[in-house]
Amino acid sequence: MTKDEEKRRAGRAAMRYVEDGMIVGVGTGSTVAHFIDALAERKHLIEGAVSSSKQSTQRLKQHGIAVLDLNAVGDIPLYVDGADECDPNRCLIKGGGAALTREKIVAAAARVFICIIDSSKRVATLGGFPLPIEVIPMARSYVARELVKRGGQPVWRDGVVTDNGNWILDVHGLRIAKPVELERDLNQIAGVVTVGLFAQRPADIVLIGADEMH
Ligand code: 5RP
Repeated sequence: MTKDEEKRRAGRAAMRYVEDGMIVGVGTGSTVAHFIDALAERKHLIEGAVSSSKQSTQRLKQHGIAVLDLNAVGDIPLYVDGADECDPNRCLIKGGGAALTREKIVAAAARVFICIIDSSKRVATLGGFPLPIEVIPMARSYVARELVKRGGQPVWRDGVVTDNGNWILDVHGLRIAKPVELERDLNQIAGVVTVGLFAQRPADIVLIGADEMH
């Protein structure tokens, strides 16, 4: 099966968790695009979506799905998003699409977080995929030096500006044996907005294609 077919199946399989009347948190990326397309078929049965990026907002609106402001809704029952890597504890690396900050906010506000991936994203240890970190632009060099002290090789994603007006450093060479601890440590560096490690709040359920991993 191709990667795209696995992504399509994962996106459609996530519909199992969508209930009538729900507000659905929606992530970002090519796998999520399949989920949005599937969600459109039930758009009259849900209350609306909370989006994690301008990219997803555009696709949701194209389908006529109501996009709601997170500040105007309470807790979100369900959040569906992709990932760049997923370990056996459902800890994730995210941010390949530079949407990590809003993704982390919506994931934090959600009761259930379903991660949809193709099988190439499964890893024993996180870190093969360079870890994205969103930084305040004036802090880029300082944060990069702090990352080098921790054994990483940060590369500026030149030309990319996030939806929040910030920049991305992609950190190569990290073998992430303790994701919760590393997320906590990197969050302390002044100028870091968001670390693309989703370990303190991992996914609750991972769908690899249509197959479920709890
Ligand atoms: C965006 C993300 C995406 O979920 C991640 O990059 C996976 O994308 P795709 O589904 O296109 O492989 O974290 O910031």
